[in-house]
Amino acid sequence: MMTDDGRVFPGTAVLAADRKNDVAAAASADDEQNMFLSANVGLFGFGTGLTAYQHQLESLGFSGLGVRAVPHPLKETHGPLIGSQRCESCHEPAYRQWRRTPHARAYQSLVEADPPRQFDPECISCHVVGWHPTEYFPYEGGYTSIDETPHLTDVGCESCHGPGGNHLQAEMHGAAEEQERYRKLMVITRQESRDGQCATCHDLDNSPDFDFDLYWPGVEHSESF
Ligand code: HEC
Ligand code: HEC
Ligand code: HEC
Ligand code: HEC
Repeated sequence: MMTDDGRVFPGTAVLAADRKNDVAAAASADDEQNMFLSANVGLFGFGTGLTAYQHQLESLGFSGLGVRAVPHPLKETHGPLIGSQRCESCHEPAYRQWRRTPHARAYQSLVEADPPRQFDPECISCHVVGWHPTEYFPYEGGYTSIDETPHLTDVGCESCHGPGGNHLQAEMHGAAEEQERYRKLMVITRQESRDGQCATCHDLDNSPDFDFDLYWPGVEHSESF
């Protein structure tokens, strides 16, 4: 979803692009990947049970499943994903608040599911940073595994604010105008979240009771508390 000043919400961007056939590469990657996943559910899923299917997913890995990463829709403007922990040193109150929310435990919920589902693309997509929530494919530089990308587990700062690479770089080494430009790009307003950004993950299948006014207080944060 493109806002009037040119920012794009992660997730909705590719959905919209798919519809318009703008991002042909992302769209065809989707189709193939979804076909592959469906085929696998057919082959291993119902016949041998969910637990066996999860073991199958674990041993194949994402590349073995044919799940390929596509460029993040915000890569050009925002740079790479850096992980929530990197924000802590400069945004301590927001970070501390986020740590107390279920978003910071979203990956663990999959590990504790019965059977565990942290290798299943159709589950991790909303429970980590850097995947398309409902098309189940990763963006380049997004979560790949607990060993390779431990900083990208859970629903992180960048799941809502977009990748922080350029912002971090500018704060460390950039000139004042550059800092200003990338700070602005990191802003997401409450209205934008209300208008659909939260619902990219809080959809009817996974969060049927979602109501912005009831849920927002559960994750609200600012620089002052
Ligand atoms: C090296 C320090 C530093 C790091 C690391 C950093 N920021 Fe910032 N950020 C700032 C400064 C300084 C500002 C401008 C002052 C302010 O508004 O808080 C800012 C502004 C922002 C704003 C705009 C706030 C507003 O109301 O205008 C957001 C949103 C933001 N940062 C999010 C993040 C996120 C998310 C991360 C991690 C991915 C991050 N920042 C990492 C220093 C940093
Ligand atoms: C990238 C996907 C994603 C986005 C975007 C997202 N959420 Fe979530 N949210 C989740 C997941 C996954 C959980 C479940 C976490 C867990 O494992 O307990 C969750 C849980 C929550 C909870 C806890 C609900 C409960 O039952 O305790 C609240 C509150 C919440 N989200 C609010 C929001 C709001 C408000 C927004 C938008 C500003 C938002 N979320 C955006 C994925 C997301
Ligand atoms: C499209 C995004 C999305 C996908 C895909 C997704 N989830 Fe979630 N999940 C959420 C959201 C959002 C919540 C919070 C729901 C709420 O409280 O309203 C959640 C909550 C949960 C919780 C509850 C955490 C708790 O303790 O209350 C578990 C467990 C969970 N998901 C497991 C899974 C599993 C297993 C899969 C794969 C079959 C999956 N999720 C796929 C978005 C998603
Ligand atoms: C679920 C989505 C979501 C997550 C996760 C999230 N934010 Fe935010 N953040 C928002 C929204 C929406 C606002 C705007 C709030 C408003 O305007 O009242 C905001 C506001 C901010 C601001 C400006 C606050 C102010 O005082 O004006 C900063 C800084 C910030 N977030 C940093 C972070 C950092 C750092 C993290 C991770 C530790 C994080 N956010 C995680 C959605 C999110």
